[in-house]
This record gives sequence, C-alpha cells and structure tokens, in this order.
Amino acid sequence: MIEVKDKLFHIKTRNYSYLFEAEPHGHLQQLHFGAPIESMDADAFRLKPLLGWGSNVLYDEGDMACLDAAALEFSGHGRGDYRESPIEIFEGSRPLPTDFVYKSHRVLKAAPPMESTLPLPEGEAETLEISLSHLDALELTLYYTAYEDVLCRRAVLKNISEREYELGKLMSFMLDIPGKYELVGFDGAWIAEAHKSITPVDRARIVRDSVTGASSNRHQPGFLLASPAATEEHGTVYGFNLIYSGNHYASAQRSHQGLNRIMQGINFANFKMPLAPKAEFEAPAAVLGWSGEGFNGLSARFHRFVNEHIVPQYWRNRPRPVLYNSWEGCFFDFDQKRLLSLGKKAAQLGCELFVLDDGWFGARNNDCAGLGDYNVNLKKLPEGLSGLAKKMRALGLDFGLWVEPESVNPDSDLYRAHPDWAIVDELGEIYGRHQLLLDLTKQEVRDYIVDSVGKVLDSADIRYVKWDMNRHSTALGAKAHEYILGLYEIMGRIFRPRPHILLENCSSGGNRFDLAMLCFSPQIWASDDTDPIERLDIQQGLSYLYPQSCMGAHVSAAPHAQTLRTTPLSTRGNVSFFGLLGYELDLKHFLPVEETEIKNQIAFYKKYREIFQFGRFSRIENEDCQCWQVSKGNTHIAGIFHRMINAAPGYEFLRMSGLEKNRRYRVASRQQKLRVGQFGALVKHIAPVNLDPNGVVLRTVDHRYAMDDGQESFTASGAALDAGVALSSLFTGTGYDKAMRVQGDMSSYVYVAEAEK
Ligand code: DGJ
Repeated sequence: MIEVKDKLFHIKTRNYSYLFEAEPHGHLQQLHFGAPIESMDADAFRLKPLLGWGSNVLYDEGDMACLDAAALEFSGHGRGDYRESPIEIFEGSRPLPTDFVYKSHRVLKAAPPMESTLPLPEGEAETLEISLSHLDALELTLYYTAYEDVLCRRAVLKNISEREYELGKLMSFMLDIPGKYELVGFDGAWIAEAHKSITPVDRARIVRDSVTGASSNRHQPGFLLASPAATEEHGTVYGFNLIYSGNHYASAQRSHQGLNRIMQGINFANFKMPLAPKAEFEAPAAVLGWSGEGFNGLSARFHRFVNEHIVPQYWRNRPRPVLYNSWEGCFFDFDQKRLLSLGKKAAQLGCELFVLDDGWFGARNNDCAGLGDYNVNLKKLPEGLSGLAKKMRALGLDFGLWVEPESVNPDSDLYRAHPDWAIVDELGEIYGRHQLLLDLTKQEVRDYIVDSVGKVLDSADIRYVKWDMNRHSTALGAKAHEYILGLYEIMGRIFRPRPHILLENCSSGGNRFDLAMLCFSPQIWASDDTDPIERLDIQQGLSYLYPQSCMGAHVSAAPHAQTLRTTPLSTRGNVSFFGLLGYELDLKHFLPVEETEIKNQIAFYKKYREIFQFGRFSRIENEDCQCWQVSKGNTHIAGIFHRMINAAPGYEFLRMSGLEKNRRYRVASRQQKLRVGQFGALVKHIAPVNLDPNGVVLRTVDHRYAMDDGQESFTASGAALDAGVALSSLFTGTGYDKAMRVQGDMSSYVYVAEAEK
C-alpha cells in the first residue's frame, strides 16, 4: 500500500514501512525504514534540530535548515551537505552545484513503471514516482516499487534544458539511517567466492565495488547492514542489492550525528556519461530489505523476492533437474561414444539432464582456440548435436549445452574474419584465458551472437544452456556499461522466445552472481570450487542474499581438483543437497559402494527436492558445527557439517528452528555409509583374522560393502528440537555401532524431521 498525505509518503507492506516527506524547502527527508508503522507516527520520527551555527553552512538561515545534518533520500553538491553525494554533474569541466527539490509525484498501481533497457523485477507491485527538479534544467525521477518483501528503488535523470551536461555519477538510491551497524559483505576471488566479511560502519567510508566489467567474484554487489547484536534469528538487519551485472559501487559511512549514509549504483570510475538536451540516464534498480528477525529473516525475504519476482516466469518455483556435467570428468577430451557411456551411467544413477560442457565446437580442443565458431566438431560428434541429444533422450536424459558467446580466441575463424569485433584499446591486445571479449556495444556483434547461438539451440532438442564468460573486461567506463546493456539485449533476444530452456549463468564460477543475471537465468554456477569444505563458505555466503533454487552445487571427485583435499562422498552430497544438485566427475571409475551411495543421494534429493530447492533456508547457530536447515510445510531437513574433528569430542546437539513447539516430530538421519578401507590397518583390531591393510581381501570388501554411519531415529517435540536434541556420539577412539558417527574429519550428517499426524 502506498499512502500519500500532502507530501508525506508512506510505503507499507506486511513486512516493512518506508516513510519520508518533502520538507518545506522541497528536499526529501527520510523518517523511517523498518517495522510496519502508521503514517501518523511521522512526527515521532522527525529529527529534532541539532546544530547551531558553528562551522555549518545553512541551507536557510531563516529556519536554520542544514542539509549536512538531515536524513535525506537523495543529496547533491554545494548546498551544505558535505557527506558523499549520489550524483555528480558537469557542464564542460565545471562541476555543477546541484539542488534537487520536490516537483510532483504519482502513484502507479503497477510495476515496473516504464520500458527499460535494464532488467527489472516482475509481478504485482505498486510504484511511487517522485520527480525532483534542479533549476528547471535537470529532472530526477525517483521510483519506489513496493513488493511484499522488499522495496525497489531506481533513479532516472533527464536533461530538460538545452545545455550539454555530463553525468559523473548517479546512484540508484541513497539512504541515511540512524543507528549503529556492521556492514556484512561477501568477498572473494576465483574458486573462493562470497566469503563473509564484517566491517563496522564508522566515520571512515567503506566502499564495495567492482571494476572488472562484471559484478565480480571480488565483491558481491549484495551486502547487509546489521545491528552488532543481530543473530541469525533476532535483531535488525538491512539488506541491499543491485539488479545489475557490470561495475558496481556501494558505500557506507556514519556521520558524527549517527546517520549512516548508504548508496549503491553503477560504478562511475573512469567515466562521464554525456547528457545531451532531452537525453536521460537510467540507473539500475536496487533492492532494499529490512528484517527485525535477524539474518535468517532478511534472507527469507530476499529469497522469496528472487523466486517470485526475479527469475523468469516459466522457471518460478519449477523444480530443477539433477544434472550431470561433462567438464571436470572430461575437460576437452571426449567423443560421442565416451559421452554416451557417461550418459548411460548418469541415467542409471538417477540424473535427469546431461550437460555437454566446453569443447564441442570448432577447433576447441583446448582453451587456446575456437571460441566464437559455433559449428559442431563432427570428428568428436559425428551425428551432430541433434544425434547426440536424441541418443541421450533414449537413455532417459534431457540434453544441455555449454556456450561462451561473449568471447573470441584470436585463433578462431570469427576473429580472422572480424578482428575489429574484439575489444582492444590503443595499447594493444591483452588476454585472459587466451581470449578477448567481443564488443557487445556493436549491433552487428550482437546480431551475430543472437543468430549463431539461436541456430545452435534450434538445431537439436536442447533443454538447458550453460552460458559461460571467463574473462574480466578491459573496456573502461561508459563502454563497460554499454557492454552490459548489449548483453541484456542479447540474452533477452535469445532466451525470451525460448522460455523452456533452463539457462545457467556462469562466469569462471560465481564471477557474475547477481540479480540481473537471475532475471534471465534461473540458476547460476556458484563456483568452480566444488570442494564441499570450501562450498560451506561459498554457499553460506551466497545464502544470505540468494535462494538455494539458483545455486548450482555439484559433487565432484576427491582429491579435489582445486584443493587436493579428500572429502567423504557423503559430505560432497550433503553440501550439494542445499543447492541444485549435480554431478561433475568421471563416472567410469566408480566403485560399487560409490555407485550405491550416489544412487541413494540422488533418490534422497529427488524425494525432498521441493524442500531443498524452494523451502525456507536457515543458517542455524551451533557452536560445534556449521548447520543449515530447509523447511516446507511439515518437513524440515537439517545438515550439520564438520571441518576438523577433535580427539575426545564433546556432546553435539541438533538444533532446528521454525518448528511448531507443541508438535511431535519423527526425526531420522539420512542413510549414509562408511568405507571399510577408511580404517586401514586398524581393521586388524576388530577382524577375526589378521588382514593385510593393503591386501586384496580388504580392498575387495572396501569396494563392495560399506558400514552404517550415524544411523539414528527418534521423536521429539518442536520445542525440544529448538532447544537442541543430543545426537549420537562422535567416534572417541574405540568402539563402533551403527548409530555412532564415525566418519571423522569433514564428516556431515543430514536429518529429516517430519511432523507426526
Ligand atoms: C569455466 C567454468 O566455470 C567451468 O565450469 C567450465 O565450464 C569451463 N569454463 C569450461 O571452459
């Protein structure tokens, strides 16, 4: 609901209130963003004047108005507010003082309010549109689109004069909120995305940005502002994110008076955007969320918003298939025979989709050549994609394909024909993974990609596409922004007419994990790092902002390709369950015990797929281990994950949240197994005969039979599970029974709690 009384604006949903007003000078003054309240509370939130003359520059000596001390919706330059401004405009080389004041407003019973070249959320919402003007020369329109869980803000600047201006900065939103907070960010690098970081918001400005041309694996655009006392379940947490995939910028800084200025938008580093008479510039939409129920409360709101308003309509709440991906198992080394034998095994194990990754076209036999030439390599695939897709279908598998259409290898027919299509500056070519980016700002390049990828997709029964992008951009400034606009045009033209194709975005893993990509691709490959222990950080980091339904999470080989760490197969599965399960390893060398374990994993995941993919996700606080929970209806599933186990471990408890306190739940651990070989020479202590730990007998037994690990079931009330129920003991140096949790380092266990009728 959007309520307007005179110039007081109240955006209110079941979950939050956002209240502000145009004060007598016309500046938009913030009153409240937080728990739902009544408009009549406005007076209670109005800041009482604090400052005398001192060194302040007053906007109006008559009423002592001082912008530097005000809580504003948007600010400018040169009128006494010395905090960071969300806007910078130049006339020639002269920076323009700016003073945007209220002009008019409209309430629109729809969203999004207008045609846009940028992706926007969809679905039911109301929009408040407020126009501000600066000297009848520039018009700044602020849009507030209210969704049940979050508020979307965006800004459009129009030159309504006959003068030539240049825009040096336009943030999507600005906010001045009172309070003491910590900024929770998600930072990383390739194979180490989205690691949580905490920085107190204080007098020095915190900047989170990207200049790599993508939203980047360095600093995730989404971030949180949490009260220092906030926990997963309690306390105030704000969340912010940008619906944009290119260079972004966000900052947070606390004023002496205790207002926290937050802003976010496109990163204007290295560029000014010409703003000719009548031209306008549109900043991408930003998402603002609030929760009084801790981090989990905020995440639940962000997750619902993504599932209901961001991902393409066809895929909203539609179950995602368990896939097999050829990359880590084959790299470039495959032919149709090898793929079909992998497909046969994948289908037997329970996979539903076979994804042929890199290496299927042109001279793409390594990563030095072929990018750009999307003609099937008939040596590898003599029956083409359509023949292969048909054969996969006969095995019971859908077929999906990898493409990397934004890049070109200099060793490719495309580059030889159109060297000018690559982005190269006057300093010459510079490579990332032996490739250059194509210049998506050129119409002919966009048309080529739409045409060539479209033809591939229509040439066979292709149900899934993995759209990869493996190079940081060297395009600077305005070109970097126009590149991203070109990318959105391409993705829209290819995939909107083919809504049934499941698109998974990837950029060397999670280098472009953002809300704008999710507007086209319902899922994103979270990281090239599939080591489950690393994934505990990566998936958990992403979980603050994004739902499990969009996080590709595959089981891969151990020792792991990136860390050389050997982890139990059970843990590789258990971590991947809390995302979109897939398998990415050579299936040929599986032992019978491993095959059985994988069949069980896939069957288990399919049984609870709706809950794993679309259930409410919570991070459960537990001193002893990392815990995740998904819940839907009467079913709750918890995963508990260990890193290194200590000798003589203490008691461990299963804590679950959100259960009905007075209801009884039947809780059972997932059936998982322990390899006999894990005991090595220790087997001689329990075996009736003295077995050689490296001998054939033990090897044969190890390959065929496995022991139960941590098998227990019990009933407990919701209240007891909330308090923490004692679990069976971890291995303490001697003994074994099937309930004991023996797996050791990097072990993990999954428990299903079903409400009794
Ligand atoms: C990088 C991706 O992140 C990988 O998953 C894989 O698709 C390779 N590219 C293929 O070249």
